Amino acid sequence: LQTDVAIVGAGPAGLMLAHLLHNAGIESVVIDNRSRDDIAHTHRAGILEAGSVRMLEAAGVESRVHTDGHRHDGIDIRVNGASNHFDFPELVGESVWLYPQNEIFVDLSAARERTGRPTYYSVTDTRLGDVETEHPWVAATTSEGDELCIDARYVVGADGSRGPCRSMIPDGTRQRFFHEYPFAWFGILCEAPPSHEVLIYSRSERGFALISQRSSNVQRMYFQASPDTDVADWSDDRIWSELQARVDGPDGFELNTGPIFDKTVLPFRSAVTEPMQHGSMFLAGDSAHTVPPTGAKGLNLAFADVAVLAPALIKAFKESDAEALAGYSQTATKRVWKAQNFSYQMTRMLHTDPTQDAFETKRSLGELRSILESDHGRRYLAECYTGWPHG
Ligand code: DHB
Repeated sequence: LQTDVAIVGAGPAGLMLAHLLHNAGIESVVIDNRSRDDIAHTHRAGILEAGSVRMLEAAGVESRVHTDGHRHDGIDIRVNGASNHFDFPELVGESVWLYPQNEIFVDLSAARERTGRPTYYSVTDTRLGDVETEHPWVAATTSEGDELCIDARYVVGADGSRGPCRSMIPDGTRQRFFHEYPFAWFGILCEAPPSHEVLIYSRSERGFALISQRSSNVQRMYFQASPDTDVADWSDDRIWSELQARVDGPDGFELNTGPIFDKTVLPFRSAVTEPMQHGSMFLAGDSAHTVPPTGAKGLNLAFADVAVLAPALIKAFKESDAEALAGYSQTATKRVWKAQNFSYQMTRMLHTDPTQDAFETKRSLGELRSILESDHGRRYLAECYTGWPHG
C-alpha cells in the first residue's frame, strides 16, 4: 500500500491530521490497534479550548459540538467552601466548550469515512522502520489477519502514550522528561441533573474535587484519591458523601446526586518526549506528551500539535518546502511546556499533597490566592484555560 502519510493512531490527533491533509489533497492511511467501538467508549476529558472548536469548524468535520456540546463562559474555583467565579468572555474574550473527547472521535471517524480514505481499526503487531530515510514504512496485521504494509513519504506517530512510534527515536537523541504526582482522580459518571451552571474546581482540606458535566441528565465528577484506590471500596453513598464534603460551604451548596454507572481511577503524570520528530517521523498528541487531567489540556494539546504539523506537511508536499517541518518539534514543544506548566500549576494549587509538609499546603494556598485576588492573575488563568492562540 503506497500513500503520502502513514498515520499510526486513529484518536483525535491522528484523525484530525488525516482530515486536514485530505482537505489539501494529500493521501493518508490511518491504523489503530483499538477497535472503533473501544475508542468511542473510552471516557476522557470534556473541555475544548476555543481554538480546538475553531479547528473542528474550519476543517469541515461536521462536528456536533455546537448542537450536542455546550458553551461554557467560565468556571468556579471553590476554596474551602468559598466560591470564586471566572467570567472568561469578560476576562479574555473567549469561551470553552463542554463536549466529550469520545464524541469528537465519533465525529472525526465519521468524517474520515466520508472521505473514503482507508482507516484500519483493531490491527495487531504494529511495526515501523526506515524512519531515517525518505521511504519509511508501517506494517501491521489487519483484523482479518491480512498483512498490511504501508509505504509512505512521512510517518506520524499519533499512537498515544503507550504506542511504538516514540521508541523509533534513537536513545541518544531522545529525551524523556517525567514527573510523578502522589495522587490520582476517582472519576464517576452519574444520572443526575447538573449541580451548577459551570464546572466547579474545588480545593478543600479533604482534597480536590471537580464537578463537571456531560448533559442535562448525565454528570461527570472527580475527586482526588490515592493512586492505589480500589473502586470496589467505594459505594455510591460513600462517593456522594465524600464529594459533598469537598464542596461544602457557608453558601449551603448541594450536589444533585443520582445512580453512579461508571467508576474509574485515573493515573496522574506529566511526561514529554523531545524532539517530537526523527527523520521522516513526527509525533503528535499523547505519544509525545501527557499532562495530568486538571485543566483538560490533553486533547487540546494534541489538536495544537496538529495545527502546527498539518500546514508544515502540506507545505512540504505542495511547495517542496520542508523548512516548517524541520522546525515542527521546536514550535510544538513551546506550547507543550506552557500546557505542562498550567496543568502542573492547577494540580498543585488545587490538590493537597499527603507527602508534603504543612508549609507546602499553606504555600500552594498562597499561590492560589495570589491568582484569585488579582485582576492580572484571573486574566492569566482564564487565558491559559481557554487556550493560547494557534500559531
Ligand atoms: C473534565 C476533565 C478535566 O480534567 C477538566 O479539567 C475539566 C473537565 C471532564 O471530564 O469533564
